[in-house]
Amino acid sequence: MSFRIQPAAPARPNRCQLFGPGSRPAIFEKMASSAADVINLDLEDAVAPSDKQAARANVIAAISDIDWGTKTLSVRINGLDTPYWYRDVVDLLEQASERLDQIMIPKVGCAADIYAVDALVSAIEAAKGREKKIAFEVIIESAAGLANVNEIAAASPRLVAMNLGAADFAASMGMQTTGIGGTQENYYMYRDGAKHWSDPWHWAQAAIVAACRNNGILPVDGPFGDFSDDEGFRAQALRSATLGMVGKWAIHPKQVALANEVFTPSDEAVTEAREILAAMEAAKANGEGATVYKGRLVDIASIKQAEVIVRQSEMIVDS
Ligand code: COA
Ligand code: MG
Repeated sequence: MSFRIQPAAPARPNRCQLFGPGSRPAIFEKMASSAADVINLDLEDAVAPSDKQAARANVIAAISDIDWGTKTLSVRINGLDTPYWYRDVVDLLEQASERLDQIMIPKVGCAADIYAVDALVSAIEAAKGREKKIAFEVIIESAAGLANVNEIAAASPRLVAMNLGAADFAASMGMQTTGIGGTQENYYMYRDGAKHWSDPWHWAQAAIVAACRNNGILPVDGPFGDFSDDEGFRAQALRSATLGMVGKWAIHPKQVALANEVFTPSDEAVTEAREILAAMEAAKANGEGATVYKGRLVDIASIKQAEVIVRQSEMIVDS
């Protein structure tokens, strides 16, 4: 480890973020009674321009009228390139109850985008005497966002999570696909007469995970558009979890259970992690830094790997 210790990310369950358009209040109660850890009420791209004002009012009312339980409650505001975002922030911070936990800022391109929202939020919080400081989450979904991912991750102490937005990212990069995440038909290696599909999102995901871990924030995988494809969702989510992401969005309620399943460490994984910790305790008692567990090497790094899984599982049990 370098002299600078890697900061810990917030210890909260973030396995699934369920989205719903702010213009569709009929589903808000269903969102609240879902098994998602985080709720994202959307004012941005799931809301038509003609509905922006009504959606804002619906969301502000729902924040206090609906019992959101222990869920993290987040509202996605409009992008900083639109005429809507400042009114989203002003109305939310002036009118929404203190139940609001978080604002999601889409399409961030540089640290100054966060600075601008932070300045506005801070002024309104002070003016209104709000007691709870609003947290931020951002979506990396453009070439600029990925190019500046590290400075964005370090932009504000309010920042707790960073998400990959596959559709806008693909468009910004000029990728030849209309798919929202997952396997892309034309992205394959060819050998011995067979296609072997590769992962076009890998670089963006790994860059986001590194920026997040370096700054103590949560890396989250964004949407998987084809909600009739459970296996495709599961495969994408398993890759994200393997890379270090802590959760994934659900853009339909049926995806919530899938995300929870993938991002909750299995009983077998937790048992194995505990056994590795026990094996290392025994090794330490014998004055050894490395030992053999099920025929493979485990050493002091294995303790940290096992602790990631145990910590994750304990946090979910506690929640
Ligand atoms: N949260 C909670 N419940 C939802 C829901 C959501 N996001 N979307 C749909 N439901 C409910 C429906 O009301 C319906 O309930 P019912 O069985 O009581 O009638 C049930 O789930 C099945 O819905 P279904 O008919 O399959 O879907 P739909 O056609 O009503 O809606 C979408 C499909 C994709 C339009 C809708 O899920 C949606 O708007 N998702 C979020 C989109 C979004 O916010 N995008 C921004 C981020 S990318
Ligand atoms: Mg987007």
